[in-house]
Amino acid sequence: MRYDPWTILHRLTRSFVRVYCVFEADLSRPRPAIPHNPDLVVRLFRGIDDLQPAIAALVPAGLTIEDVSARIRKGDLVSVGFLNGIPAGYTWTRFGDVSAKELGLTIHPRTREVIQYDSLVLKRFRRHGLQFGIAAPVLDYLQQNGYATGLAWVDLLNRPSYKNQRRWGKKVIMIIISLKLPGMEQRRNLSLGAPLHSLFTKTCGQK
Ligand SMILES: CC(C)(COP(=O)(O)OP(=O)(O)OC[C@H]1O[C@@H](n2cnc3c(N)ncnc32)[C@H](O)[C@@H]1OP(=O)(O)O)[C@@H](O)C(=O)NCCC(=O)NCCS
Repeated sequence: MRYDPWTILHRLTRSFVRVYCVFEADLSRPRPAIPHNPDLVVRLFRGIDDLQPAIAALVPAGLTIEDVSARIRKGDLVSVGFLNGIPAGYTWTRFGDVSAKELGLTIHPRTREVIQYDSLVLKRFRRHGLQFGIAAPVLDYLQQNGYATGLAWVDLLNRPSYKNQRRWGKKVIMIIISLKLPGMEQRRNLSLGAPLHSLFTKTCGQK
């Protein structure tokens, strides 16, 4: 396995300090042109009628039936990208609160806002720009359904993900520094740029 310096730094520091950027996507802004991949077929799944097809698409990509069912039953939208019929990646959108487990916080969307979470491109398909191709139809769907903004939180040291958020022209509206230093009983989250409580509350039962 090959490790880049960012991944090494991430592994060394993540038990003590985590830094997350909260990105806001303005859905009315023009998007950067994405190179068209003629082999990529993207399907959107939402609603109970799409549950079985969503399970069939996402279990081979590593998600459990329980996770997919729970998310679809909450009304989430999932976009799945297929290459030659094989699921290559996915991205989820929630039209309500999402628990950010790694921070012990729950993020709350504002008016006409959605939360974009859990995006993954399977390892063997990475570095071909698929994340853009898989997310683009979601942005169209959201615009067509009257949504104005989308929020996502990204680990600063997750360079592929961070780079893509930036490339998409998204704005960092908050930075969260999450500390759990030796001797600290509870994780402490500090925010820069905006008060933490403007978007997050503590998840019940989380330390
Ligand atoms: C984040 C992720 C979805 C990006 O998907 P992708 O389709 O591979 O993205 P791209 O091909 O557009 O690559 C994005 C950038 O990251 C770089 N990159 C991708 N994988 C990389 C790796 N393992 N190490 C270093 N750089 C990497 C790419 O080269 C590109 O930058 P460049 O154009 O300057 O070279 C994918 O890396 C992934 O699934 N990661 C694990 C899950 C995750 O972190 N999800 C996001 C948080 S919810």
